[in-house]
Parts: sequence; structure tokens; C-alpha cells
Amino acid sequence: MDSSEFHGFLNTRCSVRDYSKEEIGDDEIAYLLDCATTAPSAGNLEAWDVVLVRDSGRKEALSDAALGQPQVMNAPAVFVVCANYVRSMSRYGERGILYAVQDATIACTYLMLAAHAVQIRSCWVGAFDEEEVKEILSLPPHIRPVAMLCVGKGRLPSNLTERMPVSEHFHTEEWYHDA
Ligand SMILES: Cc1cc2nc3c(=O)[nH]c(=O)nc-3n(C[C@H](O)[C@H](O)[C@H](O)COP(=O)(O)O)c2cc1C
Repeated sequence: MDSSEFHGFLNTRCSVRDYSKEEIGDDEIAYLLDCATTAPSAGNLEAWDVVLVRDSGRKEALSDAALGQPQVMNAPAVFVVCANYVRSMSRYGERGILYAVQDATIACTYLMLAAHAVQIRSCWVGAFDEEEVKEILSLPPHIRPVAMLCVGKGRLPSNLTERMPVSEHFHTEEWYHDA
């Protein structure tokens, strides 16, 4: 893949919240997870875990925990990507809390991009009640749910979302370089 193909790959990904009834197969799930494990992580500790949810009752409960967002219930599969504090804090102490969240976030990003590579649509969901999600999934205390990634098949929307110009994000050398 050359640089323009890579840019095109990134540019054609977008959040999809409507899915067809088609299931995501076990081999597809395995592919996505395998790609996620290639993500970098602090100290290569891979301080993230993922809970795959396909059961409709549990998806409904997750949707309720996510302020009723329907895509959580309607997606054939939902990955709940979690930070594993113990794995990271055992080496890095308090700093490990931040590293575990970063590890989980980039693992979720890899899942999302891997899905895009095989025409599986996705929607990242960050708005949810963490305590409710912990209870629904029986997560132990050191596991923090960071993001849900709803995945399914379906069509891309005709309009892609817009972005701020790069200049809105970018600073050279220090924050107030223009002042
Ligand atoms: C940290 C984070 C939290 C998000 N939470 C939600 C969410 O709760 N519900 C939702 O529908 N989309 C959510 N999104 C998706 C964003 O709305 C979406 O990425 C953004 O509008 C840009 O659109 P695009 O993904 O189509 O490029 C989230 C994305 C991120 C990265």
C-alpha cells in the first residue's frame, strides 16, 4: 500500500450505526482480534482485554448502559475493550493507569481499522455508565471498560464526516509559537 492508498483507506472509514442482519463470523472475529494484538503497548505489556458480546439480552443491557444508543443493541457483535490496570501497574505503578487506558484505546483503534480493511462497519461508543457495564459483564475491579466497538455489515453513508483543518491541531515547538 502506498501513501495515497493509505490516506484513502483512512479517509473512507467512518462510523456506521445501521447494520444488516448478517452475522460476523468467528473467523472474522479472530482476524480482528489478531490485528488488535499487533498494536503497540507500554512496555509491551498489552494491558488491555476485550469482552465480545453477541447475546441479544446482554447487548440490550449494554445499550441501556450506553444511554439507550440503538447501535449497541442492533450490531451483531460488540467488543467491549477494557484497560487491565493490574497488568500495567505491576510494572509502572500509578503511571500504569494511564498506560492501560492508552493500551486499550490503541487496541480498539486497531480493531476498528482492521474491521474497515475487511468491509466490516463499526461505531466506537464511549458514552456509557462504567459501573453498569462492569456489572453486566462481571468485570473484576481492576478491569475498566474504556470503549465499546459495535461491528456489523452494512452500507457506508454517502457523506463522510468533516474534520478541522490540521492547523487547528498543530503547534510548532511550543503552544504559543504565534504569540
Ligand atoms: C472516544 C470516542 C467516543 C465516541 N463515542 C461515541 C458514542 O458514544 N456514540 C456514537 O454514536 N459515536 C461515538 N463516537 C464516534 C464519533 O461520533 C465519530 O467518530 C465522529 O463523529 C467522527 O465520525 P466518523 O467516525 O464517521 O469519522 C465516539 C468516538 C470516539 C473516538
